[in-house]
Amino acid sequence: MRVGVLCSGRGSNLRAILEARGRGEIPGAEFVCIVSDVAGAGCLDIAGAHGVASAVVPSRDFRGDRPGFERRLLETLASFGAELTVLAGFQRVLGKAFLGGFPGRVMNIHPALLPSFPGHEVWGRETAHGVKLAGATVHFVDEGVDSGPIICQGAVPVLDTDDADALSARILTVEHRIYPAAVAWVTSGRVRLQGRRVALDGFAPSGEAAAARLVWPPLDA
Ligand code: GRF
Repeated sequence: MRVGVLCSGRGSNLRAILEARGRGEIPGAEFVCIVSDVAGAGCLDIAGAHGVASAVVPSRDFRGDRPGFERRLLETLASFGAELTVLAGFQRVLGKAFLGGFPGRVMNIHPALLPSFPGHEVWGRETAHGVKLAGATVHFVDEGVDSGPIICQGAVPVLDTDDADALSARILTVEHRIYPAAVAWVTSGRVRLQGRRVALDGFAPSGEAAAARLVWPPLDA
């Protein structure tokens, strides 16, 4: 499957995905382009370092014209033949004009256990609320904000001493593990959408084994 990645910033998730590809862990994907809406963003260097083509569609050229911006993104991805769009730190919310061009074929990662804490700057809200588990969610993108069908979630503990930066760093480590895996599942055709539930073909664990990995504080604390 031909994959285009949209990115606005430093690109650590992009790097994790391309490194996983380098290790042969995403055999179903060909990464055809990285598109950034920010000229000079770190993600463009990462694309270059991994030999992936890149392009810039500056969002600042489209102030007040979101449909025009989205159409230009679509044209750019189409020019590389992309069939799946992976959002990796893309700072713009995408609407109908874009999503209509990739029905059910846009993935995103969000640094919280959705549907809790959608939107921006989640880490300070999580620490202030006092949640014990935080984490990251890979999901398909629909027209809402961080509201599409969930493909994968990874949990991390929230320590009493955490501030937003410490929590963000811990969550990022789980992001870098789950996003490459989720991209591999989708691009190898293992992911099936059933309503808004996402099933992974060939995976049938026991509930007890799964639960043991997700408890915090640990039960022997
Ligand atoms: C990550 O926290 C991701 O969850 C969010 O944007 C951030 C991107 O970071 N969607 P990076 O550019 O991948 O380092």
